[in-house]
Amino acid sequence: MKSLRDKRVLLTGGGHGIGLAIAEAFAREGARIVLADLDEAKLSKAGERLDEIAPGSLLYRLDVTDTEGIADLREELIGELGGLEILVNNAGVVQGGAFLEVPLERHRQTVEVNTQAVIAVTHAFLGDLIAADEGHLVNIASASGFIGLPWGSTYAASKWAVIGFGESIRLELKRLGHDHVGVTSVCPSYVSTGMFEGVRQPLLTPFLSADKLAAKVMRAVRKNEPFVLEPAMIKIMPLLKGSLPTGVSDKILDAVGASTSMESWKGH
Ligand SMILES: NC(=O)c1ccc[n+]([C@@H]2O[C@H](COP(=O)([O-])OP(=O)(O)OC[C@H]3O[C@@H](n4cnc5c(N)ncnc54)[C@H](O)[C@@H]3O)[C@@H](O)[C@H]2O)c1
Repeated sequence: MKSLRDKRVLLTGGGHGIGLAIAEAFAREGARIVLADLDEAKLSKAGERLDEIAPGSLLYRLDVTDTEGIADLREELIGELGGLEILVNNAGVVQGGAFLEVPLERHRQTVEVNTQAVIAVTHAFLGDLIAADEGHLVNIASASGFIGLPWGSTYAASKWAVIGFGESIRLELKRLGHDHVGVTSVCPSYVSTGMFEGVRQPLLTPFLSADKLAAKVMRAVRKNEPFVLEPAMIKIMPLLKGSLPTGVSDKILDAVGASTSMESWKGH
C-alpha cells in the first residue's frame, strides 16, 4: 500500500499504548482513524491526542468479546465511512502468574480477548478489506507467540494462535486471488506501555517504545511485510526454536532470561 492518505483504519484497543501509537502514526500520514476500545475514559483522552494531529477521528466503545457489539460497530462504521481499508486487531490483555495460581476465568478471558475476538472482528471486517481497492489486516501478536512463556502460559498460547490465524488468512487470501489484501503479524518483545510492568528485561532485548514499534508497523503495511519482529533479537527467534533441539533452545532462553522474565510481572 503505497499511500496511506485517506485510508480508513479501524484499531481495536486503540485507547492506549501500542494501538494509540499506531493510530497516531496513521493519522500523521493522513489516514482516517476509527478507535474502538472498552474503556471510555481512555478513548476520550486518545481522541484529544488524535485531534491535535488530525481532527475528526471516530471513537466507539466496544468490548471485542461482544459479537453483537462488533456487528453494530460495523454497521455504524460502514454507514459513516462507506468502507474500510485497514483493520488493526490490537486489543489484548495479560494475566501473569504461575498457571495454577491464576483463576481459570482469567485464562479464559485471555483467550477470549486475545484470540477469539481477533477471529470475530476479522470475520466481521475482512469482506470490507477485500471489497476495497487495497486492504491490510494487522494482528498484534507477540514474540511470545514463538516460544514458551512461563508465568504467562495462556498469554503465549493466545498469541501462538494469533500468528497461526494470521499466516493462514494471508495464504488463503493469496489462493483466493485477493492479492490486494496484505496481512502482517506483529511480534514484539516487551513494549513500555505498562501492560508488562515489573517484568525483568531479557538480555539483548531492550523494552521498545510504542512509537518505535508503530513506525515498524507503518513500514510493514506500506511494504506488505508478513511479519514485524522487534527488537532485532526477536528476528532470530523462529529460527532458534525451529532449528535447534529443544534442550539447546531451552538453555539459550534461560541464559538470556526470557524464561524467567515474567516471574516478577505486575502489569498495569
Ligand atoms: N506491551 C507489551 O509489552 C506487548 C508486547 C507484545 C504484544 N503486545 C500486545 O499489544 C497489544 C496492545 O498492548 P498494549 O501494551 O498497548 O496494552 P495496553 O493495556 O496499554 O492497551 C490495551 C488496550 O486494549 C483495550 N482493551 C482491553 N480489553 C479490551 C476489550 N475486551 N475490548 C476492547 N478493548 C480492550 C484496553 O482498554 C487498552 O486501551 C495487545 O494485544 C498486547 O498483547 C504488547
